[in-house]
Amino acid sequence: MIEALCAPMTDRQPLSRFLPALTSRLGQTQAALRAVGRRARMRSWALAITAVLFLILMGAGSLSGWVTIAGFAAMAMVIMQQGPSGGDDELGEDASGAGSASRRASGDDTSWRPLVDAMPDAVVALDHNFVVMHFNAMFEDLFPRARLQQPLSHVSRNPELNEAVERAVSASEPVIVDVFERVPVERRISATVSRLGGRDSRQTGLPFLIISLRDMSEQDKLAQMRADFIANASHELRTPLASLRGFVETLQGPAREDTQARERFLGIMSSQANRMTRLIDDLLSLSRVEMRVHLRPRGIVELNEVAAYIAQALEPLALASKIKIVVTRSESPIRIRGDRDEIVQVLQNLVHNAIKYGKESGRVEVAVSRVLDGTPPQPRALVAIADDGPGIAPEHLPRLTERFYRANAAASRDKGGTGLGLAIVKHIVIRHSGELRITSVVGTGSTFSLLFDELGTRA
Ligand SMILES: Nc1ncnc2c1ncn2[C@@H]1O[C@H](COP(=O)(O)OP(=O)(O)OP(=O)(O)O)[C@@H](O)[C@H]1O
Ligand SMILES: [Mg+2]
Repeated sequence: MIEALCAPMTDRQPLSRFLPALTSRLGQTQAALRAVGRRARMRSWALAITAVLFLILMGAGSLSGWVTIAGFAAMAMVIMQQGPSGGDDELGEDASGAGSASRRASGDDTSWRPLVDAMPDAVVALDHNFVVMHFNAMFEDLFPRARLQQPLSHVSRNPELNEAVERAVSASEPVIVDVFERVPVERRISATVSRLGGRDSRQTGLPFLIISLRDMSEQDKLAQMRADFIANASHELRTPLASLRGFVETLQGPAREDTQARERFLGIMSSQANRMTRLIDDLLSLSRVEMRVHLRPRGIVELNEVAAYIAQALEPLALASKIKIVVTRSESPIRIRGDRDEIVQVLQNLVHNAIKYGKESGRVEVAVSRVLDGTPPQPRALVAIADDGPGIAPEHLPRLTERFYRANAAASRDKGGTGLGLAIVKHIVIRHSGELRITSVVGTGSTFSLLFDELGTRA
């Protein structure tokens, strides 16, 4: 630009010819500078919107302080480097001195819209009349019927949200509310409504309000599960503890001199103490498995060997219920990538269940084989543990691997079960990229099938 201004001075031209040219160049330069100023103002709006969105995300806890700073810096660089939006060549346009006012009046600055699209939360931008100017894909997921140029009240009739929008107009801080939607599914959405500025959206093309929404239902469900787990674990511990306390008091008081009662009570107390130990062991085991669930196991496990080992280890227990364990081996060895101790734990839990909940004098089969599974069919390793017990009613099947879930609570407690066995099995199987399938026919028996990728058959 400086070169352009100086160029006429280097020409040997008469002053009378040079002055109009200089005046015209000065006029163009002034216009160009005005355009640069306006673009800077526009970008400062875009920067302000970005800052607000990042602050909302940080406030909502989805971004840490450093990520917020780094994210804002990156977005700011993109905004500053971006050319004028919508194909508007503002410099050229203003340099020619025409049309700038009309474009400004039409308010067609859309440079901020990619920012809304890039946000990880559902975001909608509204103008002064609470009419939707723009929204991102996440917002559309939450409100599939949302349309541009539609008043917000048509997108969501939720009174909390519409009231928050009214309040945000005069509030000095963003307004945060919980929005409860009941259709199509019940969910809690946290909404933050922020006012961006006082200028008319029609003049500037910039949003007046930004609403960012986050579906909290999943988080609520996890928090509820955690609370349930603690409640269940303490309940499971409290029951044997209360029984122990009762026996201690009885032995200290009325049964102090009763040798027969003392012997019997001590036997029960010992089994209650064992139950508590088992529960704590299972809880620790579950937490260890959960912690390692994303670490791929490194060892190699041969499934026929583990099946034979488990059948032998549980033989005395099976004999006590007059149950016969039958192992069917595959024709050739089947190796999987795995942690032997964990695979042993899985089979032990399943065979132990088959013995505990199977038929007295019945039969438990442990079969190792290769099967074709999935679409397209792939060869996979299968270990199936089948019993001929009373079976499990279909309504219990989807919940059996939940912690503390028991199909028959009384039977499970009678047999010393903690209700954590199948939860541990599920986590170990996930860690081994395997699958657990349960089928059962009431009155006939249940089959627990474990599927794994055989070593060497997949990349
Ligand atoms: N083979 C089976 N036949 C019938 N019911 C079963 C069988 N295996 C499991 N169940 C049911 O599933 C429930 C959950 O099993 P899980 O192994 O998780 O717990 P548990 O056996 O009660 O306790 P734990 O295994 O921690 O000692 C059991 O309480 C039982 O009701
Ligand atoms: Mg069990």
